Amino acid sequence: MDAGVIPFHTPGHKQGIGMERAFRDFVGDNVLAIDLTQIRGLDDLLQPEGPLVEAQELAADAFGAEHTYFLINGSTSGNQCMMMTALNPGEKIAIPRNSHKSAMGGLIMSGGYPVWMKPEVDEDLHMDHTVTPETVRATMVEHPDIKAVYVVSPTYYGVAADLVGIAAVAHEYGVPLLVDEAWGPHFHFHPALPASAMEAGADMCINSTHKMLGSLSQTAMLHVQGTRIKLDRLKAVYKLFLSTSPNLVLVASLDVARRQMALDGPALLSRTIEIANDTRRRLNDIPNVYCFGEELEGRPGVFDLDPTKVTITVKRLGYTGYEAEEILRRRYNVQCELADLFNTLALFTIGTTPDAADELVYGVRELSREDRPVDIFSPSGVLDARIKRGTYKLPRIPPLRILPREAFLARTEFVPFKKSAGRICAEVITPYPPGIPVISPGEEITREIISYLELEKKAGVRMQGPYDGDLKQIRVVVE
Ligand SMILES: Cc1ncc(COP(=O)(O)O)c(C=O)c1O
Repeated sequence: MDAGVIPFHTPGHKQGIGMERAFRDFVGDNVLAIDLTQIRGLDDLLQPEGPLVEAQELAADAFGAEHTYFLINGSTSGNQCMMMTALNPGEKIAIPRNSHKSAMGGLIMSGGYPVWMKPEVDEDLHMDHTVTPETVRATMVEHPDIKAVYVVSPTYYGVAADLVGIAAVAHEYGVPLLVDEAWGPHFHFHPALPASAMEAGADMCINSTHKMLGSLSQTAMLHVQGTRIKLDRLKAVYKLFLSTSPNLVLVASLDVARRQMALDGPALLSRTIEIANDTRRRLNDIPNVYCFGEELEGRPGVFDLDPTKVTITVKRLGYTGYEAEEILRRRYNVQCELADLFNTLALFTIGTTPDAADELVYGVRELSREDRPVDIFSPSGVLDARIKRGTYKLPRIPPLRILPREAFLARTEFVPFKKSAGRICAEVITPYPPGIPVISPGEEITREIISYLELEKKAGVRMQGPYDGDLKQIRVVVE
């Protein structure tokens, strides 16, 4: 940026002069001064030739990839880029049923044919873990025409898959392994963390740098190695997805997050892991509170664990994870990352201080002392009944009648849910937890699915995805 050059170019706020004063004062002039795009002397993320080539090469080097691409619309766009690169319309991809919803976006955009894989479900913790190499192999044997294997590792709760084993199966069948490693951008920088997807031999992966490292929200990276991914195709897709006006504040934050990790990553992460492990120990000392750790390794779908994720299982306190999260926020000023029926998840990163950890432990300890009759699980107790009945077990994945893309783009109508058997679903319906879609676009609505979801509704389970959150109506394809 040339100081003093008179700006007749975008962005319209002209380094803050044209911006609402209160906001300008709030964010500060420095942020606005570097909010510049596409002017002479600055590089272009879509066609980098100067500093952005160097920044991405340095990132590739730091994260153990051959090529790295900066993303400014999160791992969401990374999932879309991976699918669009690896698949042509109608081509099959092996994909876990519990993938993030942006993977469905990638399927809709690419026209890919999902061959769903069941993740391992942990009945104790009521959460799903990862898919195993055995599941991937069985899927490949059944569908030898699969063109790519896609997995999520680690999970939101920090459970990592056997990526070396999965890569070996994918490569034996001559197809690339794509990994949604949104939650693992720190893995490459510390020996106590699970192997990163690149280390494990994946061909392409995405990292939500903003989730676990020091870059700004929306920033992420896509890493590639080897020869199974066509780089020319990836570059074309990348250009299709990226704004022609990338925000340089975001881009710069990716570069500094890389620099920070390359220079100080191991030391910063050692401290983070120590604080997280110490917190886990202290929380486990609180009666009726459980935070899983190494003892979980070896369970199906649990190959390795990220210690920086502290999952606080509160069911024996008689609270749901949602209630615990709410109480911790309201009474103890502690905001966790996520809650589900049984758990509240605390995220430890290089920004977590020992004082913050103390506050979390204090809040959970106080919560455990509250006079709460154990066994009351929800106001109605129905959730508990549901779990005892074993209805937690998901129904069978219904037959795929048309591709997700076709269902998404088709003419649709709303019909009463109870009478929708035999119709083709045009939306995703995900009871939460466990967060695994029961039906997705293009699949036939079966009677089994209707009765399962009706039960879930009665139990007060939240449904993610449908237009009608009460699921009285469902959007189906007009045939
Ligand atoms: C597994 C997984 N993949 C992808 C994403 C999307 O990431 P982003 O928020 O960076 O777009 C998320 C977001 O939570 C996620 O959990």
